[in-house]
Amino acid sequence: MTVTQLSFAQKAAQHWTQERIRKITGGKKYVIDPLNGAELLRALGLLNSDAGMSADAVRKYVQINHMIALMEPLVLSLSARFPAVRILDCGCGNSYLTILLAWCFREIWKKPAQIIGIDTRSDVIAKSAKRAADLQLQDFVSFETVSVADFYRRREQTESADERKSTRIHLVIALHACDTATDDALALAFADKSDAFAVAPCCQAELAGLWRKMSAENFKSAFSVLINSPELRRDSCSTFTDAMRVLLARGSGYEVTATEFVPSAHTPKNRLLTGNRRGNYLDNALDEYAELRQALGTGIALEQRLSAEALVRLNQKILR
Ligand SMILES: C[S@@+](CC[C@H](N)C(=O)[O-])C[C@H]1O[C@@H](n2cnc3c(N)ncnc32)[C@H](O)[C@@H]1O
Repeated sequence: MTVTQLSFAQKAAQHWTQERIRKITGGKKYVIDPLNGAELLRALGLLNSDAGMSADAVRKYVQINHMIALMEPLVLSLSARFPAVRILDCGCGNSYLTILLAWCFREIWKKPAQIIGIDTRSDVIAKSAKRAADLQLQDFVSFETVSVADFYRRREQTESADERKSTRIHLVIALHACDTATDDALALAFADKSDAFAVAPCCQAELAGLWRKMSAENFKSAFSVLINSPELRRDSCSTFTDAMRVLLARGSGYEVTATEFVPSAHTPKNRLLTGNRRGNYLDNALDEYAELRQALGTGIALEQRLSAEALVRLNQKILR
């Protein structure tokens, strides 16, 4: 048989000796390797037509395995609780993670799942749907062109309370969804009482814009030095935005942790906020939020997206 007549999996099996695998994994046991995931990695563009992997693709390959390893315990604990875990990937873009999760459900974890990838861009949604079809993953994942806010609004308007219970999202994810799309994803999780969320925020431009205006208006507080310096403003805005997200999530019934989700050499935007719903709405987290809000001179977009009931609780703290 010539090389061109071999199936892709056979080509990968020939190319990927244990020594070559060790070179890209550093000897670690990865969930997806170029042997068990040859077709998947090819569909994601990480393996070339000859089954080799470019240096860039190796970086992405390490990143996706790291992400799957991080998500695995959470996903498996949800799988043990629900007949089919429902996951919403907000701002899925090219859907690396969405497709990877679907593939792992089918090939590794062997559990049913309903994964939905949504994005406002119809071109990336068409591409993602084709990838899923090429890998025959349609029973595990579907895609739709819609914004996070519209996805939730539509469900509220068209489904009864009982229907909404049965379409409730168990896990909300949003990786580098632009600016306040992260807040939309968190608001959806809070409103749906989702069991967990995992968000890696992107450009926290909202607070930076507000601070720029406040700086021009000569706002004074303990944080004036950050607010008035463009360089310090850029870095501190992302940290403060995420700190405020953490506090609002704690006040909305979640236990939250902030971790690095890929080594910082791979991407500077590597903060992952994960939340597990415990149902204890921490009042002191809202007190802390109100204090921070006062010192920073403004709140964040997530505040405006809270349910009417949650907003009343928050306003009692802010107006105190
Ligand atoms: C930087 S990309 C990240 C894509 C993917 N999650 C990843 O990590 O590779 C951000 C994506 O979010 C989408 N997006 C931005 N705002 C959105 C919104 N409000 N609702 C849904 N998608 C949104 C953009 O179209 C874009 O595809």
